[in-house]
Amino acid sequence: MPKILPATGGDVVEVILADHRWFEEALRELRDVRGDRAAVLADLATVLIAHAEAEESKVYPTLRRKDAIDADEVEHSEHEHAEGNEALLDLMEVADTGSEEFSSKLHELSEALTHHLDEEERDVLNPARPDVTQDVRDKLGGTFAAERARLIDAGCGSIENVRKVVASEQS
Ligand SMILES: [Fe+2]
Ligand SMILES: [Fe+2]
Repeated sequence: MPKILPATGGDVVEVILADHRWFEEALRELRDVRGDRAAVLADLATVLIAHAEAEESKVYPTLRRKDAIDADEVEHSEHEHAEGNEALLDLMEVADTGSEEFSSKLHELSEALTHHLDEEERDVLNPARPDVTQDVRDKLGGTFAAERARLIDAGCGSIENVRKVVASEQS
């Protein structure tokens, strides 16, 4: 398993894309029953919750202000984060990582997450390239990385916190 990427700054588009590639690698590893699925899932939960929350609190508002994305795109992305978090929690609640149930819940998480990565890269990150200056993108990369690190340090991937996040999104 690639280690959880350190929170480095730089162009926010590149920082986010690096996490996206890491998510895909984590999903691939989870498909292999011989791996340490519990450990990989714990890392995935941590980075996924931190990544999505930092996007919502730091990245989307700036891209909105710069008119790179509209309110509907923000709402749609947040809705997809909520769906992904629900699928993540369903997978974390499966006790036996070698079971058919784990496999089927992994499939659901994989579908939700890969769908979101594709849409976010096309509809959110693409417009940020022409519409947001390099200077702003660089500063935003640092802000995103710092918030992501803060959430990771706070233990955002624990099952208790993931339950809390999902419950707050459903209310
Ligand atoms: Fe993302
Ligand atoms: Fe996202």
